[in-house]
Amino acid sequence: MKTVRTTPFDDQRPGTSGLRKKVAVFRKAHYLENFVQSIFEAYPKLRGGTLVLGGDGRFHNREAIQVILRMASANGISRVIVGRGGILSTPAVSHLIRKYRTRGGIVLSASHNPGGPDGDFGIKLNIDNGGPAPEQITEAIFDFSKQIAEYRIAETDDIDLDDIGDYEINEMQISVIDPVDDYAELMGSLFDFDAIRGLIAKPDFSMAFDAMHAVTGPYAKRIFEEILGAPEGTVMNGVPLEDFGGGHPDPNLVHAATLVARTKGDKGLDFAAASDGDGDRNMILGKNAFVTPSDSLAILAANAHLVPGYAGGVSGIARSMPTSQASDKVAEVLGLNAYETPTGWKFFGNLMDADLVTFCGEESFGTSSSHVREKDGLWAVLFWLNLLAATGLSVQAILDRHWERFGRHYYTRYDYEEIDSESAGGLMQDLESRLADLEGTSHGGMRVSMADNFSYTDPVDHSTSSGQGIRVLFENGSRIVFRLSGTGTSGATLRVYMETYENDPQRQHRDTAEVMQPFVEIASELAGIEQRTGRTEPTVIT
Ligand code: G1P
Ligand code: ZN
Repeated sequence: MKTVRTTPFDDQRPGTSGLRKKVAVFRKAHYLENFVQSIFEAYPKLRGGTLVLGGDGRFHNREAIQVILRMASANGISRVIVGRGGILSTPAVSHLIRKYRTRGGIVLSASHNPGGPDGDFGIKLNIDNGGPAPEQITEAIFDFSKQIAEYRIAETDDIDLDDIGDYEINEMQISVIDPVDDYAELMGSLFDFDAIRGLIAKPDFSMAFDAMHAVTGPYAKRIFEEILGAPEGTVMNGVPLEDFGGGHPDPNLVHAATLVARTKGDKGLDFAAASDGDGDRNMILGKNAFVTPSDSLAILAANAHLVPGYAGGVSGIARSMPTSQASDKVAEVLGLNAYETPTGWKFFGNLMDADLVTFCGEESFGTSSSHVREKDGLWAVLFWLNLLAATGLSVQAILDRHWERFGRHYYTRYDYEEIDSESAGGLMQDLESRLADLEGTSHGGMRVSMADNFSYTDPVDHSTSSGQGIRVLFENGSRIVFRLSGTGTSGATLRVYMETYENDPQRQHRDTAEVMQPFVEIASELAGIEQRTGRTEPTVIT
């Protein structure tokens, strides 16, 4: 064991989902160590307990795991459970923490951000409920990181991560486990695997899953191909690569374009899905159909009775503020609790722990339930397969049926990536200063009923999080939301979220881009996007 003198870095405040930086930053001497020591200080519960450790396999994953193992030993952690090869998806970590009642976990991932030597790396603490550390803890980590003077580390050889078995560093036990076993068993306990097997075996049913060379490859191959009998090759890009094959492991219409193309036309796949770097996001597609994540959340909740794991009932649905109000409609009609939280999964944990909600979701391709305390990409895919099997309907037919019953929320998000941080801050500040004057004004024939900067008080621990994004609500239920990303690693990203409600079935099959165009214009005018950022077009539209 040795104690190493160090000096603080001033940029270790965790964002929406842990600390994310360029690999080069994480490779600076003492950078990772300082942050890890700050975790052990801010969350002392790990001392004397078990920690789950794994990552999405991106570049620097293996090195970081060896450092964390050595530091865990020197900081009095008694046991670490590690996925073979250093691999564990985010939902799998959450499940392992809960199943084996460990004190917490550390996930190494920058989610959907690109990897490789010039890409991004990230580290995130999950606490003993299996979910991301809440803000009080992430702020405490940041406070320690600003004062740190030394860290503790054991001097040992690397542990062999590629063989399942038990190892030791001094007093600390290390168990290298199969990353998929426990997770696959959990999925089998929630879904009707026999019905899904039957669906997949039908000669006229076709599907594909794109793992985007990220962590879900081994999980998807085991579950879809080995357990559910899908033909070999159903899983595309199934081998996790350190640089994700040069791609963005982000399951959306832009970055999973090859998969999307396979769903088009008469011969298009009946069902297709993709997941991201660390396996917590999902995109759901059908033949010539795309399910917005906001709709997906609403549909899963509305049809939960068809899935064995949820047949016992559903308590409520929570959505992040920018997520469309589609799930609110479902909650209203079915008499369920509904919550609107700030962006980021950490705000759902308390609601699920108190059983106020069963389902949670974000517009950013995140859906999940209280089976874990993270969003869960493969869970959402299996849920959809279970629905297809139970109803005998196509993806598009499930969408149509849902809209007819609950109305349709047309939705789009515009991202302006890597804009100048000062201009982005100025845009938000200026917009905020005009909020009071906005109320009552009309835009494109719609009156603004309310405009504010979203603030949330957790109903369980009563903590308040303010400044969570600017909401402009119109009298007809439409909304425009502006916020700055908390996960980027260079410059700022402005996100503009727009939605409008349509309950006339005759008008529920229009082109989203066309329906949303007036909102795009109102949003650019309200925020002065072009003047402030110099951008006439967004970088990504989802
Ligand atoms: C983004 C998403 C957010 C999600 C987070 C982590 O955060 O918008 O919903 O929880 O990634 O996956 P943002 O960059 O907007 O702060
Ligand atoms: Zn992710």
